[in-house]
Amino acid sequence: MNQALLQAKLAALDLPGIRWFDTVGSTNDVALDWLASGAAEGCLVAADTQTSGRGRLGRRWITEPGSALAFSVVLKPSPEEAQRLALFSPLGALAVCRALEAGWGLRPEIKWPNDVLLNGRKVCGILVEAAWMGDALQGVVIGIGVNVTPDSVPPEEAVMYPAGCVEEAAGCPVDRAVLLREVLAALRSVRALLLEPAFFEEWDRRLAFKNERVALAYDAQQPQGEDRAEGLLQGVGADGSLLLKLPSGETRAISVGDVHLRPARRAC
Ligand code: BTN
Repeated sequence: MNQALLQAKLAALDLPGIRWFDTVGSTNDVALDWLASGAAEGCLVAADTQTSGRGRLGRRWITEPGSALAFSVVLKPSPEEAQRLALFSPLGALAVCRALEAGWGLRPEIKWPNDVLLNGRKVCGILVEAAWMGDALQGVVIGIGVNVTPDSVPPEEAVMYPAGCVEEAAGCPVDRAVLLREVLAALRSVRALLLEPAFFEEWDRRLAFKNERVALAYDAQQPQGEDRAEGLLQGVGADGSLLLKLPSGETRAISVGDVHLRPARRAC
C-alpha cells in the first residue's frame, strides 16, 4: 500500500484528508497532533507498521509490516454525542462487524464493550482518545487495529486474550484497503444511529457470550471494595451498560469503561 493507492481506493468516500505512513509510532498520536492543528471531521491516518502502537490501559499494540490494518479517524462529536463519548468505542466495533459481515460473510461478535471476535478470537481492538482544550472538546480520535493476515497475530503469551485474524476466519486473502474502505463506510452508517435505540439493539445482537457465565474484572477498585463480579451475561441495556445477573438473582448494570470481560471458564 502507499498514499496514492490508498487515495484511489478510498476516493468514493471523499475524505477531507488522508495521511499514509509506511512506518509510524502510533496513528493515534499522529491523528491527535493533526486534530490539534486543525484536522477536519473524517481525516484519516493509516500505517503499515507501528513502532509504538498503543492499546487500552497503557498496553502495547503490535502492528507488523504488511499484515494488519492500523488506522485512526478524527471525529468531531455533536454536543449530544459529546455527552456520550464512551459510545465511540462500540461505534468502531459495530463498524468493523458490519464490514466483516457484508464483505466476507463472517459472523463477528463483540466482547463487550468493543473487542471484535471471530470464532472466539480477538481480531480487532479499538482505542478512542478525546482531545480537550480546557472544558471544550476539540474532537475524538478513534484508533482501530485489525489483525488481517496470520503474520499479524501476536504470540499467545503476549496477549491478554486469545487472538486470531480475519484471513483465518474468511479462508481467503483479504485486501486491507478494501477492508479499510468498508469499515470507514460503515463508521458513517453506524454513526447515524449513535444515541438511537437501533445502535444499542445492534450492539446487543452482536454481543459475545450472551446467556453464558462471565467474569468481569473491574479496571479500578469499586467503592464497595469489589474488584470482580461473576454472573450470567444478559445483554446490553438501553444506555449501553452491560446487564449481568449475579448469583444472588440481582441484575447489575455495569457501565462502559469499568471492566474487562471474559468467559467465566478462563482465569481473569
Ligand atoms: C486494544 O484492544 O487494546 C486497543 C488497540 C487499538 C490499536 C489501534 S491500531 C491504530 C491505533 N493506533 C494506536 O496506537 N492504537 C490504535
